[in-house]
Amino acid sequence: TRRSRGRPMKQRLLVVANRLPVSAVRKGEDSWSLEISAGGLVSALLGVKDVDAKWIGWAGVNVPDEVGQRALTRALAEKRCIPVFLDEDIVHQYYNGYCNNMLWPLFHYLGLPQEDRLATTRSFQSQFDAYKRANQMFADVVNAHYQEGDVVWCHDYHLMFLPKCLKEYNSKMKVGWFLHTPFPSSEIHRTLPSRSELLRSVLAADLVGFHTYDYARHFVSACTRILGLEGTPEGVEDQGRLTRVAAFPIGIDSDRFKRALELPAVKEHINELTQRFRGRKVMLGVDRLDMIKGIPQKILAFEKFLEENSAWRDKVVLLQIAVPTRTDVPEYQKLTSQVHEIVGRINGRFGTLTAVPIHHLDRSLDFHALCALYAVTDVALVTSLRDGMNLVSYEFVACQGQKKGVLILSEFAGAAQSLGAGALLVNPWNITEVAASIEYALNMSPDEREKRHRHNYAHVTTHTAQDWAETFVSELNDTVVEAQLRTRQ
Ligand code: G6P
Repeated sequence: TRRSRGRPMKQRLLVVANRLPVSAVRKGEDSWSLEISAGGLVSALLGVKDVDAKWIGWAGVNVPDEVGQRALTRALAEKRCIPVFLDEDIVHQYYNGYCNNMLWPLFHYLGLPQEDRLATTRSFQSQFDAYKRANQMFADVVNAHYQEGDVVWCHDYHLMFLPKCLKEYNSKMKVGWFLHTPFPSSEIHRTLPSRSELLRSVLAADLVGFHTYDYARHFVSACTRILGLEGTPEGVEDQGRLTRVAAFPIGIDSDRFKRALELPAVKEHINELTQRFRGRKVMLGVDRLDMIKGIPQKILAFEKFLEENSAWRDKVVLLQIAVPTRTDVPEYQKLTSQVHEIVGRINGRFGTLTAVPIHHLDRSLDFHALCALYAVTDVALVTSLRDGMNLVSYEFVACQGQKKGVLILSEFAGAAQSLGAGALLVNPWNITEVAASIEYALNMSPDEREKRHRHNYAHVTTHTAQDWAETFVSELNDTVVEAQLRTRQ
């Protein structure tokens, strides 16, 4: 901790992520309205003890003019945010292209559709160049705000090139990088044309973190097999320099959910929903409308369940909240129509004049509405085909103190490693198995539900987002100190 006039100064933390935790809407030439998204990650990072955090990232809007940029920078400063301005072309190539059409599907073990494969192979180089350019732009902004002693924490697959850019500016900068997605088997990573360059730039960081031990192991294997470096229990070694690699499973701010459930407005909403679905069991899915979430597979499994269990048909409802995301990427557009088609077919098949089995919403819900929905749910269905962690499963558990509902959870979500003993784990590709789990969950005895819930609740309420962030930051500080001691020896 640094001191100023005898008073200890908080260490500054620069959090660098593709997206700032705000939504910005332009109101006039030089005025903006900002809404801070009070997600778990934001409160986790702002709550890190003895640390003064600032965010650096893209505000998600195109601001071509300087007047607008200056005004937005001023407005964001009040929210402890610093913008990186990306123009439309770079957003198209870096964000829609390289990040979301190349790295995202690859890291989640999803191949590209056949017709896109050749086109993507051809545009690969220009997209990768844009990715590097974008990462350099983030580095320029970090460098302009950096002060000696700051900790710089880079986030996610958008910024794999950033650690290298930062260390080129200043080799003494404390740099950490954390991946929020899975890191795939080295055999998958090997197929990426830029495989070595990306690994080398990540290795420039002092500390590299993943949600699970498996992802960390895959990363170390990629470094040993593709780069020929040495993997040690501590991380990866390259000519005497160690990059520390470790698992830091993220959590949620569970108290925030518990507090929300005590609010009169939320209680009232819970009562309304209970009335509305009286006589039916409520099953819930909450996902970004993304290929990795396995929404079509989940709905097909629900159809199979209805097919095989006619007695349940008018006694259960599936509420699927599908939050639109990355709507400029063609794959996401196709997914939306595919899901609508399946939902329409099933509602046509099993609906009655007064009720339909699936309520599908293409939108997000505000925090309080979401908490109420979690609280009235009997069975939550999280059937991601792959997922770095999946915090919906944690949020559901945090809101189930009363009801003690069942969580059906994909074995391919990082959360399966922490909630595996309490949840019903499924292979989301096997719709017969998922349909059988739905039946099992709906018929589960109160004793078994209680036992399973207790396990999950204990985990979710003790492994919080704040602990996660504090552990990463203190480990990063320690790693740098150890490295300095080693080089002095
Ligand atoms: C995932 C990624 C995040 C990303 C989020 C929303 O959780 O790991 O980095 O911010 O999806 O996606 P978007 O493309 O809208 O930022």
